Amino acid sequence: MNAEGIERVAIVGAGEMGSNISTVCALAGYPVAISDLSREILDRSLRRVRRNLDVLVEAEEITRAQADAATARVRPAADLRDAAADADLMIEAVPERLDLKQEVFLNVEGLARDDAILASNASGIPTSEIAARCRRPERVVGIHFFQPPFVLRVVEAIRGEKTSSETFEAVVGFIESLGSVPLRVLKDRHSFVINALQQALRKEVAALLDAGVASKDDIETAALYCLGPKYSTFGLLRSGDLTSPMSPLRRGEVNTSGLNYDYTKYGVDEAFRRRDLAMIELVKAAARIRSTYPLE
Ligand SMILES: NC(=O)c1ccc[n+]([C@@H]2O[C@H](COP(=O)([O-])OP(=O)(O)OC[C@H]3O[C@@H](n4cnc5c(N)ncnc54)[C@H](O)[C@@H]3O)[C@@H](O)[C@H]2O)c1
Repeated sequence: MNAEGIERVAIVGAGEMGSNISTVCALAGYPVAISDLSREILDRSLRRVRRNLDVLVEAEEITRAQADAATARVRPAADLRDAAADADLMIEAVPERLDLKQEVFLNVEGLARDDAILASNASGIPTSEIAARCRRPERVVGIHFFQPPFVLRVVEAIRGEKTSSETFEAVVGFIESLGSVPLRVLKDRHSFVINALQQALRKEVAALLDAGVASKDDIETAALYCLGPKYSTFGLLRSGDLTSPMSPLRRGEVNTSGLNYDYTKYGVDEAFRRRDLAMIELVKAAARIRSTYPLE
């Protein structure tokens, strides 16, 4: 059992995400009971889990023995009652429809132990809306994996309006136990954080294309060669560190909604030294990206 008291996981919805989340949980050592509408869907899901694990073996991320052990931890549940009965954590991954998710939560709440945590992998529906019909909304939380979750190791933990601190922290700890990084979404909203960022970027790309400002291929390559090394080296907010440490931005004379980091605490020499060290990392990142994705 991990520190949060989560020992067994149930997954409801054995489609794309349910299968992939099962893979991550099983790899981390959790027994997983997976449930869906038919045995046929469950069989397909188990095949997906095995395929996922084969990919990781081929990529030399895990050994064959680890893959076999993980496969053995995933079992198809006879029905929802069977899946929920001994679960400490239920992760729902049914289609993105509020009415359907609310129904699943109502049903699971009636079958699971009172102290079980009920989590939704919804992409954008606020956790509070999913919990609205539950008797114990304090045990309901969001746990949003990104596709494919056995590769992209960031998971959003979403705190609904009534989610208790105990539930929220247990899920954050669970995410860490998977070897993933939790992104704490402290205020419930549509699309949370990462999807909101993606949507903003896509919206801007669509507007640029509509206006004929640049071609699809040029925008794609430019993002990879320019934003790619910057963001993979510094991150979204710190990439401003590339500006001269003594620029008006750095001196705090230009306020970009408090996003700029304050370099004024360093002397001029130290500020430039830090900027140069960052540049060295950027040179390496840019070269890595260019060699991985050469222009055709
Ligand atoms: N696919 C992605 O890239 C992605 C990424 C992150 C989050 N999500 C979210 O994960 C959730 C699932 O998405 P998906 O892509 O895996 O969908 P999917 O269609 O591949 O799988 C959904 C599964 O739920 C099953 N299902 C439907 N009603 C059910 C019920 N009442 N009880 C049990 N099972 C039921 C379906 O039979 C199906 O197998 C959605 O909320 C989606 O927005 C998807």
